[in-house]
Amino acid sequence: MHKICACLTIFEKTKFMFQSYQIQSKEAYEKAYLNSIQDPEAFWSEIASNFSWHKKWDSVLEWDFKTAHTQWFIGGELNITENCLDRHLPDNKDVAALIWEPNDPSSPNVTLTYGELHAEVMKFANVLKNNGIKKGDRVCIYMGMIPQLAIATLACARIGAIHSVIFGGFSAQSIADRLEDAAAVAVITCDGANRGAKTIPLKSVIDDALVAAHSVKTVIVYAHTHTAVSMHKGRDIWWDEEMNRMDELGLITCDAEVMDAEDPLFILYTSGSTGKPKGVVHSIAGYMIWANYTFVNVFQYQPGQIHFCTADIGWITGHSYIIYGPLSAGATTLMFEGIPTYPNAGRFWEIVEKYKVNILYTAPTAIRSLMCFGEEHVNGKNMDSLTVLGTVGEPINEEAWNWYNEVIGKKNVPIVDTWWQTETGGILISNLAGVTEAKATFATLPLPGVQPVLVDEAGKVLEGNGVSGNLCIQFPWPGIIRTTFGDHERCIQTYFSTYKGLYFTGDGCLRDENGLYRITGRVDDVLNVSGHRIGTAEVENALNSHTGVIESAVVGFPHDIKGQGIYAFVIYQGHAEDRESLTRQDILLTVTREIGAIAKPDKIQFVKGLPKTRSGKIMRRILRKIAENELGNIGDTSTLLDPSVVDEIIVGRLA
Ligand code: PRX
Repeated sequence: MHKICACLTIFEKTKFMFQSYQIQSKEAYEKAYLNSIQDPEAFWSEIASNFSWHKKWDSVLEWDFKTAHTQWFIGGELNITENCLDRHLPDNKDVAALIWEPNDPSSPNVTLTYGELHAEVMKFANVLKNNGIKKGDRVCIYMGMIPQLAIATLACARIGAIHSVIFGGFSAQSIADRLEDAAAVAVITCDGANRGAKTIPLKSVIDDALVAAHSVKTVIVYAHTHTAVSMHKGRDIWWDEEMNRMDELGLITCDAEVMDAEDPLFILYTSGSTGKPKGVVHSIAGYMIWANYTFVNVFQYQPGQIHFCTADIGWITGHSYIIYGPLSAGATTLMFEGIPTYPNAGRFWEIVEKYKVNILYTAPTAIRSLMCFGEEHVNGKNMDSLTVLGTVGEPINEEAWNWYNEVIGKKNVPIVDTWWQTETGGILISNLAGVTEAKATFATLPLPGVQPVLVDEAGKVLEGNGVSGNLCIQFPWPGIIRTTFGDHERCIQTYFSTYKGLYFTGDGCLRDENGLYRITGRVDDVLNVSGHRIGTAEVENALNSHTGVIESAVVGFPHDIKGQGIYAFVIYQGHAEDRESLTRQDILLTVTREIGAIAKPDKIQFVKGLPKTRSGKIMRRILRKIAENELGNIGDTSTLLDPSVVDEIIVGRLA
């Protein structure tokens, strides 16, 4: 039954007081950390009471890592959009919630106040309802970085539909896989998206995806680029016409659906070391509190500040630090449609100057790339407004960290190196800007509630400082993954089975002499290309689907800009050499069609054989060393079925 919002009295009682849990000194951090470990339930209970609830939780936490079972704030009822929108209206209705900077700097920008965003979200929520979309339905969102993407996401949350945002760079095949896995009933898209000098025909990609996805009954299309699109009668409808209809029908307000704390909020697909990407599921209350708590503390957000996270909402960083974290804190979030190098490599810095951005949160790959364009793009821009610089997505090298610190921050702005994952919902290890110490290339310290442990290959916990191992977490935090959509067993196997009683992150990590953490990179078969997670198995499947490819093996290699590049070793039927360049292009096109351009290998080496053990397992370790050009360090090849293939691969290695 749809319950109406009967919570206004609760709003009055639970006034927004995020400062009460903002940690503002090293001592306060230590105290909060200790409290969060000694009595997690009391600690999170107190923080949760700062949010708007329809019904208070009956108990705080239930968990069992053996069965990948975690529940927070059990029995509580709320709606995340009331926490992100409604509760800010009494005091901050006219404050900017969202500023949108278009791809083309000469096009008009858009500012939506909290009052306006609230109104748009409610009206679009009515569009969804009017088209039969209801609580629990899965809705796929495939749009460019425009305000309607944020509105669509929040409108789903308003009515209790589960959103699955898909990054605009994924191919029709990838979208079809995700639509099918989630049995999505609707898609929200736009005609096209602007990315630098290019227009990406999103609706056309969706049309291709929908050939195979039969669960989708409705496609809502926002006209943004005014590219020609085909509109399928009985299925495709225009965003604007539907919104106008709501005006005509007087359906402009929409009470928030009352949701259980543990109802799913969204699915976000992410790559692992095996199989197809899995749908990571986050539930409402725990995720909301984690996104908010980490936003307020890591970035030391102060009321009135402008927060610019350069990520795409198609990734978890955009979910947590463009939408839910900042909006739940009543901040102004800046959303940028374009790319850092268009129309020139000074674009980020122009945006910082134009809007007087306070918090800038970006990826090492962007920093490295902009660094290469030289300081002339930075010089002359007034960036005195900056109070915090953040990085996320991959290990940051010292050179990039120093450039960020010296050239952008003028050695006067704290840098936070934030380590986390799609599965963690929000930041787990990071310094708190200007509060706890920063150290170049180190994420430094766990946030309150986060209990990291390092283990060796055998699962033995490595005690003390000055140790390296595989990073695990031994206790649940509110934002932990709840399940993998439609396949809970996969969640158990992927995260909770490698080391008994622990959540395994897949990352390697060093804890230095002072107890500070440094993430060294993935220890599984997952690549991190420009901060995007890509499974080697996924790329291999795509390569193998090309007619001429008999077998392939994919590994990463260090790449100056992307962090990691993709090196593919391919056994090709017949003589690839005869038309080597064209064959490579054919193969790349196949990968682009299967996954998307982000998964295209940088190098494809044609080989006659792959190094395999007698049991047929590919020895990736050897291929990795070859790709990394560590030829003197290849190690033992005597257990290989045919050690001579290694010499041959070395001879043909691509520089
Ligand atoms: O390897 C770690 C790396 O990115 C992985 C998570 O990727 P994804 O789920 O796509 O989320 C990216 C945004 C949170 C991690 O397993 N990673 C993320 N942040 C850092 C990092 N590696 C080093 N330092 C970081 N700050």
